[in-house]
Amino acid sequence: MMAKVLLILIALSTCYCSAQVVPPPPPPPPPPTHTTPPAAALPAAAQEYLDAHNQAREEVGVGPLKWNQQLAKTASLQVRYQRDRQNCSFANLTNSNYGGNQLWASGLSVTPRAVVETWVAEKKFYSYANNSCAPDHRCGVYTQVVWKKSGELGCAQAACGKEHASLTICFYNPPGNVIGEKPY
Ligand SMILES: *[C@@H]1O[C@H](CO)[C@@H](O)[C@H](O)[C@H]1NC(C)=O
Ligand SMILES: *[C@@H]1O[C@H](CO)[C@@H](O)[C@H](O)[C@H]1NC(C)=O
Ligand SMILES: *[C@@H]1O[C@H](CO)[C@@H](O)[C@H](O)[C@H]1NC(C)=O
Repeated sequence: MMAKVLLILIALSTCYCSAQVVPPPPPPPPPPTHTTPPAAALPAAAQEYLDAHNQAREEVGVGPLKWNQQLAKTASLQVRYQRDRQNCSFANLTNSNYGGNQLWASGLSVTPRAVVETWVAEKKFYSYANNSCAPDHRCGVYTQVVWKKSGELGCAQAACGKEHASLTICFYNPPGNVIGEKPY
């Protein structure tokens, strides 16, 4: 029997917006690039995360991200930690060297494209002219996707059986959402 599933999606981005008076941290050194396999070798999921990001970036004239295997590995460790030790809740990425977008979704999996599209859906609440977000919206997930100075991407998803949910994290290097800067 087919059941109609109500998909619940909750998005979160890290940003440096809570530290209004503190200058943004210097960008971390880039992860080693020699671990990045050639584009042809990317797993299907990686390619899908990447394509969905780069489509949104192209729409606003921002160059593409590159997949970074080290960032993907870091994301994988983090989502598995959240699954195994934190009841599938959002990771606290306040002290991360990377920008981070997260998505908690009901159900055990959500496609990479659907994950990224949920973040990009915030675009309509973002005003580029005054670099602000409509009340009660979180445009940070969108602005991180299209952040021009972010060059590398790595994402991972964990299925959380107990919670019947999934958690997806994408890391960006260098991090975006620097307070006082526009994404592009
Ligand atoms: C996870 O859930 C269990 C059972 O509800 C609870 O005992 C535990 O404290 C929770 N752990 C965290 C890190 O929230
Ligand atoms: C996240 O970690 C930072 C630094 O350790 C801490 O100050 C902050 O309270 C934490 N936030 C949450 C929601 O736990
Ligand atoms: C930003 O601009 C939009 C329209 O482009 C406007 O609706 C909104 O009120 C503005 N916000 C601020 C904080 O000026």
